[in-house]
Amino acid sequence: MKPETLAIHASNLVKTATGDVTPPLNLSTTFFRGEDGGYPGGHMYSRVSNPNRSALENTVAKLEYGEDAAAFSSGNTCGLAVFQALKPGSHIIAPDDMYWGIKKQLLTIFNEHLEFDFIDQTDLNLIQRSIKPNTQLIWIETPSNPLLKITDIEEIAKIAKAKNIPLVCDSTFASPILQNPILLGADIVMHSSTKYLGGHSDILGGILVTAKKDELWEKIKNIQQTGGAVPSPFDCFLLTRSIKTLAYRMKGHSENGKIVADYLNGHPNVEAVFYPGLESHPQHEIAKKQMKDFSGMMSFLVKGNVETAHKVVNKVKLFAQATSLGGVESLIEHRYSVEGPDSKTPKNLLRISVGLEHIDDIIADLAQALG
Ligand SMILES: Cc1ncc(COP(=O)(O)O)c(C=O)c1O
Repeated sequence: MKPETLAIHASNLVKTATGDVTPPLNLSTTFFRGEDGGYPGGHMYSRVSNPNRSALENTVAKLEYGEDAAAFSSGNTCGLAVFQALKPGSHIIAPDDMYWGIKKQLLTIFNEHLEFDFIDQTDLNLIQRSIKPNTQLIWIETPSNPLLKITDIEEIAKIAKAKNIPLVCDSTFASPILQNPILLGADIVMHSSTKYLGGHSDILGGILVTAKKDELWEKIKNIQQTGGAVPSPFDCFLLTRSIKTLAYRMKGHSENGKIVADYLNGHPNVEAVFYPGLESHPQHEIAKKQMKDFSGMMSFLVKGNVETAHKVVNKVKLFAQATSLGGVESLIEHRYSVEGPDSKTPKNLLRISVGLEHIDDIIADLAQALG
């Protein structure tokens, strides 16, 4: 089945006594055992699994062409689980433009247990040169947050496979509709489901999908089920509901995104626009090869300085000046001030998540804010 169909039907597989067409919310934390001591309903205890989480994991695994999925209580917890699954002393090759919250995990939680290098992963030779005997993971993020850098998943997968190093791809900015890293050779794909999967800025979650149930995956599943940083049944229920419209929301985000990127690109008060759908984007050809469309995520440099950038975000009326992304409503954010003084993000950079409002209203708001 095509993604549009899977997104609607993959979570509806549970047959209930009441014949529900959509999966009901199942809040039970514990499940009856059968006379033989087994679990006839397929679930034992809701930290380990529950019907709503299984429906979610099954749906996203299918959308990402993977064998299995593990849902977590946030996108960051996905990072935590992958890093915890590595042997102490392992080396990780990570992107220089890595989502700062996951980068912060490496710098502040795993700094005594793991080694890591943050490198420009658009340079394939640099990736090759950065591999060490103890390299146990290549983590990529494409498109990256906040500079929208594109890394070539297929080429990096070849490098990783040749050295038997697992490749994990944070594909949050693309969603499973626009990019499927497993089909391009990645071992695990990660999404902050807080973003496009949820789509309404009201659920915190994360999900990992694996190409195969190997040793690393068994460790990650154990961390999920024994560690217990799992989403609630209600979060899973909301997510499976949101995912039903994901394909159509991504069409709308991408359509509006392109128009906004073109508008900003031609604006006299804008110095540069980072959007993989623009021909001027340095990795536009790679983006075209591995993405079906380019979403509503972009960032741009305001002509001027940090004060000029702050003036713009303080002037918007329709856009919400707030962090996060992927919701139906348009958001704008000054990234440097969120990431803090160690951030390498330019001080005049604004990141926007283009929502699903009418494009004329979105452009009118940007026009009045940019002057
Ligand atoms: C690319 C990317 N990865 C991971 C995360 C972390 O997700 P969460 O906020 O759900 O923990 C984010 C959050 O902004 C993100 O943008």
